[in-house]
Amino acid sequence: MKKVVVLGTGGTIAGRAQSGSDNVGYKAGEVGVADLLASIPGIQERLQGTQLVAEQVAQIDSKDMDWAVWGQLVQRCEAHLADADVAAVLVTHGTDTLEETAYLLHLALTAKALRKPVVLTCAMRPATALTPDGPQNVLDAISVALHPASHGVMVVCAGAVHAATHVQKRCSYRVDAFDSGDAGPLGWVEEGQVRWCHALPPAGAEHIAVAAPRWLQAPRVDMVMNYASAGAYVVEALLEAQANGSQVQGIVVAGTGNGTVNDAMQQSLLKAVEQGVRVVLASRCALGGVVRSAIGESPFAHYPGLSAVKARVRLMLELAA
Ligand code: SIN
Repeated sequence: MKKVVVLGTGGTIAGRAQSGSDNVGYKAGEVGVADLLASIPGIQERLQGTQLVAEQVAQIDSKDMDWAVWGQLVQRCEAHLADADVAAVLVTHGTDTLEETAYLLHLALTAKALRKPVVLTCAMRPATALTPDGPQNVLDAISVALHPASHGVMVVCAGAVHAATHVQKRCSYRVDAFDSGDAGPLGWVEEGQVRWCHALPPAGAEHIAVAAPRWLQAPRVDMVMNYASAGAYVVEALLEAQANGSQVQGIVVAGTGNGTVNDAMQQSLLKAVEQGVRVVLASRCALGGVVRSAIGESPFAHYPGLSAVKARVRLMLELAA
């Protein structure tokens, strides 16, 4: 019998509040993933004879997601996806850093593993809410996981299917909290049927291999933002921390507009590059990313189309590799 493995990491989908009418005053990561799945009506019908296997990898609010849990998640995904009986892996996750974990899995899992789908899902309302959104999201994620065309890392929330590369949390409250920016969603799930809008992107082409021991120690990559009168204070503080022994290996800048920074910050970032720190520019704008002139040159790197938080994930993996 084929299996779908569900890796639980916590989040609001596993959250509990004191009252059913409280959608925000809850504690995330309380309900175990096996109990969560057992409470979903119609889940057996949706599985169409596929066996569901639950495994708790973490039980956290995703604001606390870290390198160690990412490492475990990558290793558990690789192990399950290598099993011929496993058709797909689902990951239940908090919404707050879901786009970072999805992109990390997209880069860190091998092309061979990603011939099968890895589907992340979540909820904006706790499991105890009067109308929780988690159960429907799980059912929709199962439909995507079992679709014959599915492969690679995808996110399913509020009936939409998003690619790991484009998905972003856009709203702090509504149940349809995610979108895929200019790219749009990959498709929709309607009454258990998946309607694709785009061909699925190739999976595994951007793979960054991180050896198992490197998951024991996170590469230190910090983020700074440019804003009116930001100056160079934060970058200088990072350089001072480095001078005092802290291993700052990278800085990602959420720059203004097309990844610009004020003059003082520019000078401090140049100093950082001279000291061996990798500096990557991104944009704090929701759409567009950093677009370089065909003739201009910049002393700093950028990753086309990536948001600042995803640029940080990529830089961490490159440093770890
Ligand atoms: C979290 O990200 O773990 C809490 C918020 C959520 O899941 O919506």
